[in-house]
Amino acid sequence: MIRLENIGKRYQRSDVLQRIDWRIADSAFVLVTGRSGGGKTTLLSIMGGLTRPDEGRVLIDDVDIWRLSEPELAALRNRKLGFVFQFPSLIPTLRVLDNVLLPIAFGGRSPNREDREFAGSLLAMVGIADKEKAYPSQLSGGQQRRAAIARALINRPSIILADEPTGDLDESTEAEIMSLFQNINRQGVTIVMVTHALDYAALGTACLLKNQQLFPYPAGPSPESAAGEESRHGE
Ligand SMILES: Nc1ncnc2c1ncn2[C@@H]1O[C@H](COP(=O)(O)OP(=O)(O)OP(=O)(O)O)[C@@H](O)[C@H]1O
Ligand SMILES: [Mg+2]
Repeated sequence: MIRLENIGKRYQRSDVLQRIDWRIADSAFVLVTGRSGGGKTTLLSIMGGLTRPDEGRVLIDDVDIWRLSEPELAALRNRKLGFVFQFPSLIPTLRVLDNVLLPIAFGGRSPNREDREFAGSLLAMVGIADKEKAYPSQLSGGQQRRAAIARALINRPSIILADEPTGDLDESTEAEIMSLFQNINRQGVTIVMVTHALDYAALGTACLLKNQQLFPYPAGPSPESAAGEESRHGE
């Protein structure tokens, strides 16, 4: 379970996030959309222990992550979270398989044979088993995304934070990657995804980040309007 309580963040005195409260149940699939510059990446990185909020708390399985020491936080990130970043972040000088194994080294141990086999099976799952020995520059954009997804799964995280994992991809590759995430989610992994691909909103629960706050998307009738008040149209 991920809980955000009263999260606030500002940069140069301008508010990016204000009083955000949010609960994400285990095994949920949550999509976040909103305009460019609206704070989606900031929100994801606060949840993921990468950007410290100015206000509020983030609890992951009841641990108040921003009260941990830096090494404790790094260990929690490494153990529980898998990140798929907005911009391709494979290491160009490492082969694809070694890129996938990288979080194991960050966790402080050398990958063993079992890790290599698991990395190979993840590459097969994301559909690029034949690219194990290739370098990132030898992969298409979609294949690089797939490798980054495999890397996010190597430590068997319970939560994946994915920031526009299908950005710049054609529709059919996007559909394939979305169904990949759906399969991962069916195995019980919580997924929080920033995306503009809201054709896929039905995969889970969608939210709109707007005016520094989160709203259900598409906006449904509020409990008050359901109780008889005139419904308000538009935003
Ligand atoms: N490290 C930083 N220092 C200063 N300002 C920042 C920093 N990171 C983000 N911002 C600002 O915070 C706002 C939100 O940025 P963020 O990257 O979270 O938006 P986003 O919703 O992910 O946008 P996009 O859809 O373009 O990726 C922007 O105005 C951005 O300029
Ligand atoms: Mg962003």
